[in-house]
Amino acid sequence: MNNVQIIDGKKLAELVRLEWKSRAEQLIKQGIKPGLAVIIVGEDPASSIYVKNKVKACSEAGIYSEVHRFQSDASQAEVLQCIHSLNENTNIHGILVQLPLPMYFENNRVISAIAVEKDVDGFHLYNVGALVTGNSLFSPCTPAGIMEMLHRNRIPIEGRHAVVIGRSNIVGKPMAFMLLEQGATVTICNSKTRNLPDFTRSADILVVAVGKPRMINAAMVKPGAAVIDVGINRLPDGKLCGDVDFESVKEVAGYITPVPNGVGPMTITMLLGNTILAAERANITRK
Ligand code: GUN
Repeated sequence: MNNVQIIDGKKLAELVRLEWKSRAEQLIKQGIKPGLAVIIVGEDPASSIYVKNKVKACSEAGIYSEVHRFQSDASQAEVLQCIHSLNENTNIHGILVQLPLPMYFENNRVISAIAVEKDVDGFHLYNVGALVTGNSLFSPCTPAGIMEMLHRNRIPIEGRHAVVIGRSNIVGKPMAFMLLEQGATVTICNSKTRNLPDFTRSADILVVAVGKPRMINAAMVKPGAAVIDVGINRLPDGKLCGDVDFESVKEVAGYITPVPNGVGPMTITMLLGNTILAAERANITRK
């Protein structure tokens, strides 16, 4: 039988959140309550659930949060105005704009209106550049959560071949740069890559963020590899599944994350961490 380690993201998230709660408490003792503002435009049901989960996680971690909701026909100028006032608000240390925005919004203009030191998603063009040059202020939450999973399971990165499937600005691209920064040899594939198994089979670390149910099977995985599944897909029977065929891949992988309770819980955890970090930095500059 294969001796696979199943990485329990829910358990790890609980542990990390406990550690961070004490950092939040330290700040509160000094008169600073970390604060997060979330902006949501429109009624995308998935976004509404994500925002609800973020608010709940904040309150459990001792972080103040507020949600600014806009109808789907709101103007970009109104949203920009809201961001400008949050930038000036000293009770707010982190600001995030839930994506996707309605089609007629200019994503980069909106996100880059956020003050860089409050950009807890790490999506501001400055922070993207800072990440690429190895000086990141805030790491995007999903890849940062994956790095935390790799580190805490002592999965070696330096010199290893990491294959990232997916080229999104939220996961694939920042993930690749973070692995590169830690000394991995990185290959970035995407849903159109030809002969995908030729790449995946040589991966020591395989991160899959494509959104195709169970596209990675056991024959595509190197024995002993760490397989990180970012996909969350809803099957016709209503069940959730990842981009990795968990049942077959767990027979060859060294490490594997399940869906649900894998990467998902770590994403919000890193958002809490980035908000606390922003508040700690604001506290230092205040002194
Ligand atoms: N939509 C899907 N993932 C994310 C995320 O990590 N941050 C934001 N702001 N929107 C998202």
